[in-house]
Amino acid sequence: MCGIMGYIGDRQALPMLLDGLRRLEYRGYDSAGVAVVRNGRIDLRKASGKLSRLEQVVKVAPVAGSVGLGHTRWATHGDPTDRNAHPHADCTGRVVVIHNGIIENYLALKEELLAAGHRFQSDTDTEVLAHLIEAEYRGDLEGAVRRAVSRAHGAYAIAVLCADEPDKIVAVRYISPLIVGLGSGEMWMASDIPALLPYTRHVIVIEDGEMAVITRDSVRLSSVDGRPVERPIMHVTWDAEAAEKGGYAHFMLKEIHEQPRALQETMMGRLDEGRVVLDGIRFPPGFVETLDKIWVVACGTAYHAGLVGRWFLEHLARIPTEPDLASELRYRDALLAGNALAMAISQSGETVDTLTAMRDLKKRGARVLAITNVLGSTVTREADDVLYIRAGPEIAVASTKAYLTMLAAEVMLAVDMGMRRGTLDQARARGLVAGLHALPGRAQEVLNREPEVVDLARRYASASDVFFIGRGLDYSVAMEGSLKLKEISYVHSEALAAGELKHGTLALIESGVPVFALVTQRHVKEKMLSNIQEVKARGGLVIALAYEDDEETARQAHHVLPIPRVDDLLAPILAIIPLQLFAYHVARERGHDIDQPRNLAKSVTVE
Ligand code: M6R
Repeated sequence: MCGIMGYIGDRQALPMLLDGLRRLEYRGYDSAGVAVVRNGRIDLRKASGKLSRLEQVVKVAPVAGSVGLGHTRWATHGDPTDRNAHPHADCTGRVVVIHNGIIENYLALKEELLAAGHRFQSDTDTEVLAHLIEAEYRGDLEGAVRRAVSRAHGAYAIAVLCADEPDKIVAVRYISPLIVGLGSGEMWMASDIPALLPYTRHVIVIEDGEMAVITRDSVRLSSVDGRPVERPIMHVTWDAEAAEKGGYAHFMLKEIHEQPRALQETMMGRLDEGRVVLDGIRFPPGFVETLDKIWVVACGTAYHAGLVGRWFLEHLARIPTEPDLASELRYRDALLAGNALAMAISQSGETVDTLTAMRDLKKRGARVLAITNVLGSTVTREADDVLYIRAGPEIAVASTKAYLTMLAAEVMLAVDMGMRRGTLDQARARGLVAGLHALPGRAQEVLNREPEVVDLARRYASASDVFFIGRGLDYSVAMEGSLKLKEISYVHSEALAAGELKHGTLALIESGVPVFALVTQRHVKEKMLSNIQEVKARGGLVIALAYEDDEETARQAHHVLPIPRVDDLLAPILAIIPLQLFAYHVARERGHDIDQPRNLAKSVTVE
């Protein structure tokens, strides 16, 4: 996720661009840049690192002018260096572009542009847009941008400045967010409302496939193919703090609701006609085909993601996979033999237990793959390969969108490995890729049923124990649901393997105890239904988490939290959402500090 900001008016653009970028820094911050147009030329300043580095650069070499663009980047294509920072210019320096999103077909476009003589300065996908606009420019910026974006596939919010038409900014949105702020004789644009709040509360939200031509006095909207669009002006009433949270009461709730978008970003450019194409991974030839074992090292929620990942990797790629709590593996004399891959999963990329276990496995000869969210984090510097989950910054201590996107990344990895090893046939791969494509929409359907979870949370907010039972993949998801509840609501909770109830844990079930029963795995459904009966016979109150068309399970439970039917293997990615919401709403009912629960920190960098 990147942040974009623009200004056109009579005041100096630079201070407002920097201020807006500071407010957007939560979207990512590995480099930043600004472009300001004045006296028929565009001045660019860029710097890798945090925004403060760009501030130092413009202190030494200021840029003046009242029309400009700013960008804070979180890299997807190309290292976080000065030259890869936005804005990107065409060959002449007369057109500059900032972009949030991914241009999926940039390699093909770049080859074509190189063959036509264009010279590239960066490794980014974005730069192709600047050159495409240059190639299409015939004295009409708006038309050139229309023609250029019609050639680009992917997701984008872009804004364009042209030295030959210095009194306008042209912006286009497809999937990535874009807002225009309205003033009197001045206008702003940004990725998100918080960046605009100090300047205006009158905004227009640009929708997918729309273009805005912004001048000092007007905003003209049209579809990218040129049909005029009318959109009412919205008045924002949030205060600054609420705005940072996108209007949600807590970062955790905001992040739960961001999950459909986060999933989209995780998969963007990686799913191709029944195939998976993973950037950032360059296994040596034959490595995957001859892999003997995968060790997963992680902590907390990331470890739970590893437990789900084991299913994907063993089932689809037939590779023995052993998830280990990083803090345990370090002190266990584990046997490492053969051709091994260590998979370190960490949202922050800084968890010391995970780093130490990973280093240990690396020292003992394993190749290391990191699955992480944070570019430039320690895990990315030490791993041989990195698979970014692209969840965007996660602020709440309780991890939500990182878990979901870790699972999506793991499915893609397992499909890729299964194809290479010949353990996954084309038809099954196509089915899974189609299922992944549909997941953001399905996740949104689950979120739309939040009021049902709120009712349930109110009913059970005062429970002193809550249990989660499941088998197979459902058991792994139960562990994560239970951790969420413990972590923010401080309610005692445990995930129990449903098949183990009769071996001891059934003794915990007494009258009135809420028990979540996860029933998404067809091959163990009958067994789960028997376990539900065992719980009910002891007075337990069963809340079934099952597919919405599974009437049989619904009939046997006291309450049901339904999810849309998907491939059983993908069900964890949906099933966790109602459990996250349940934990959140119980904690809220109990009046806790949800984003910063007691005794916990977001990133655990000490042993
Ligand atoms: O940054 P990491 O993914 O390495 O963090 C690992 C755990 O500390 C983390 O998942 C923790 O369990 C969360 N607070 C759970 O919500």
